[in-house]
Amino acid sequence: MGKMSAVVRSEEAWAKWMDRLAEQDFVIVDEFISEELYGTIMDYFRDMERREKLQKAGIGTSGEFQIKSAIRGDFIHWLDRGHDKELAPFFELMDELNENLRRHCYLSLNDSEFHIAKYPAGSRYNRHLDQFQERSNRQITVLIYLNENWKPGDGGELKIYRDSDEREDEILVEPIARRLLLFKSDCVEHEVLRTNVPRYSLTGWFLRQPSSVGYLF
Ligand code: OGA
Ligand code: NI
Repeated sequence: MGKMSAVVRSEEAWAKWMDRLAEQDFVIVDEFISEELYGTIMDYFRDMERREKLQKAGIGTSGEFQIKSAIRGDFIHWLDRGHDKELAPFFELMDELNENLRRHCYLSLNDSEFHIAKYPAGSRYNRHLDQFQERSNRQITVLIYLNENWKPGDGGELKIYRDSDEREDEILVEPIARRLLLFKSDCVEHEVLRTNVPRYSLTGWFLRQPSSVGYLF
């Protein structure tokens, strides 16, 4: 499936990653973030955990809390660029990604949103698409995994369902530290398998237009 790896984000590397995303609807890049940025994000994560800022994530349907938890078990905290100054290097990296999506994939993306997410042991997120009726402006999903000592058996892999030549491929992505996963939000169905250990990630979306603007047609 061709995972790519590079700490150095050269022009050529970006071109290759963006081509891969355009062709196969997703791309995985190992060691995408530096050890230093990994440390910065984890310091922030632990700080938010300590201050009890993580909250039960919702899903786009109504229902009982228990039922929702069975579908989606993570706890999240939305990032705020203006406020979370310590994450400036992360936001600069996302600007670089945005610019490359524009240049190579001809995507016009004018907003983004990011949250950190913790899946407690025993939790999962059922198969879904990241575009909901009320949020159809999500174009590209960004995941940065943060699990330093992840090993087989820990669970929490992301399963990607992909249609290719009349059959459905399933791809398992292990949530290992510093790995980037990008996929097209409108067509890539995916699922977080049950995790057996606490699972950490940073998730975001590049949007076609600000959520509040709505459709022009
Ligand atoms: C999501 C999601 C996947 C992951 O938050 O919509 O599918 O690997 N996350 O954490
Ligand atoms: Ni999702």
